Amino acid sequence: MAHYDYLKQALARTKKPCAFLNMDALQKNMEAITKAAQNKKIRIASKSIRSVDVLKHILSSSPIFQGIMCFTAEEAIFLNEYGFNDLLIAYPIWDEQQLRDICNLVKKGATITVMVDCIEHIERLEMIALEENGKFLVCVDIDVSTNVYGLYFGVYRSPIKTVEDAIYIIQRIVNSSYIKLDGLMGYEAQIAGVKDDDPNEKIRSTIIRMLKRRSSKLVVKKRQQIMEQIKKAGIVLRFVNGGGTGSLHETIKEASVTEVTVGSGFYNSHLFDKYEHFKLEVAAGFAVEITRIPKENMYTCFGGGYVASGAVNQDKLPEIFLPQGATLTKNEGVGEVQTPIKYNGPIELQHGDPIIFRHSKAGELCERFHELHIIKNGKIIDEFLTYRGEGKCFL
Ligand SMILES: Cc1ncc(COP(=O)(O)O)c(C=O)c1O
Repeated sequence: MAHYDYLKQALARTKKPCAFLNMDALQKNMEAITKAAQNKKIRIASKSIRSVDVLKHILSSSPIFQGIMCFTAEEAIFLNEYGFNDLLIAYPIWDEQQLRDICNLVKKGATITVMVDCIEHIERLEMIALEENGKFLVCVDIDVSTNVYGLYFGVYRSPIKTVEDAIYIIQRIVNSSYIKLDGLMGYEAQIAGVKDDDPNEKIRSTIIRMLKRRSSKLVVKKRQQIMEQIKKAGIVLRFVNGGGTGSLHETIKEASVTEVTVGSGFYNSHLFDKYEHFKLEVAAGFAVEITRIPKENMYTCFGGGYVASGAVNQDKLPEIFLPQGATLTKNEGVGEVQTPIKYNGPIELQHGDPIIFRHSKAGELCERFHELHIIKNGKIIDEFLTYRGEGKCFL
């Protein structure tokens, strides 16, 4: 793991605040993910990467990494222009012009798959495909939230809850002349996206682990039943997608799943430390610099208030990575412009010294910076533009 002096030296000449990507750590994470994937393909969740150069780097490193899970239609079109193919847009798109553009790209041979979960989605695609004289590739999003001991454990996304719901939608697609069924997705957010090994929440973590074990069995059962029906009907799918970084170890066990999505595990934002089954390296982070010392052991930095999305909680704040032992103040947290840090450890901090943070969520870091400074062997060797650096703001 990188230590304070290593990152301080590497970033010494870089204007702060700045974001960085430590390639040695990224490499280790890619290796850990490849190993954990066993024989499954890994689709990269681009929302947790948000840099074309990083996507290229990961995809070119191993044939295990195949395809991108995009988060908006505009992003998929942008990535298609860069030459990426096999783009699955993981969330349904309603915007008519964007759908028309995708339809035309598919007509020209692009593999861009859109998500559907209801008849309304299907009818809209059919209407557009008819007018554009084209076709859509679609993926059906199955809800794999579960009821465990009377507790709803999952997210609110797809209305396709039962095997019957799924088969009804699938048959409707198969009978359509304007859309082609390309894949199936079931994202077990309650397993992949809920931390279960938080030292500050030991009792909660124990309960979550128990819920996850139970929920996991139900998810496997539902996916298997749906796949059996699909096979019986003679329907062939290009892919069956499941999981995320936090469920990789579970989702790969399922025979019916052909690929698992991973995004956050590459940068390893701090939310992903608090998972029982996955320990990764800190690859990405940001540095702010000390510009004021209001009193002994108190260092005030310029910037730092890069709070993550989701239910508002302490865990959405950036975490101080280095120097070890430095803490935020309760009153100010990370500030819009000024972030005070308490520190009374062995390192003598001075004006201009960096404080190194990790973002709570992987991709959102890139919305705050134009580039990632690429560190290898203790030196900056390159700069990779983020989506923001390319002037893009997809969502
Ligand atoms: C549909 C879907 N699949 C997979 C993921 C997993 O992404 P990550 O590995 O970044 O947690 C997400 C994250 O929200 C998602 O929405």
